[in-house]
Amino acid sequence: MIEELIEVARAAMGRAYCPYSKFHVGAALESADEAVFSGCNVENASFGGTICAERTALVSAVAAGHRTFRRILIMSDADDPVAPCGFCRQMLAEFGTDLEVISVGAKGGRRTWRLTELLPEAFTGADFMEDA
Ligand code: THU
Repeated sequence: MIEELIEVARAAMGRAYCPYSKFHVGAALESADEAVFSGCNVENASFGGTICAERTALVSAVAAGHRTFRRILIMSDADDPVAPCGFCRQMLAEFGTDLEVISVGAKGGRRTWRLTELLPEAFTGADFMEDA
């Protein structure tokens, strides 16, 4: 249910650690077997060490044993829905470019994409591994 994902992402957004940007982002990633993992952005004084909400959700899901995903929902402070950054697109693509990406803005607007639209012709393990 989309509503459940919205609530999970909203709660995660409230846990964002973003003292530098003050931009709160939350994500809810649903696996093929309907488990839901949340993530928030976790910033670092060495700015490059920052991890986005989408990747936090992804690494948490993978660490819990999930590798097949159905959709990810993103929420942030921005009025309009934000699209995931390039690093997150690449990390998500590792586990399938058919992923549905839903983003909800603070004003309630929604956008939906397939990851393949956001990262066409993705570089994957199949590009250099014969058995991938
Ligand atoms: N951020 C995310 O968590 N996800 C996005 O899709 C866009 C950017 C975070 C990273 C950083 O903590 C802050 O938002 C500003 O870029």
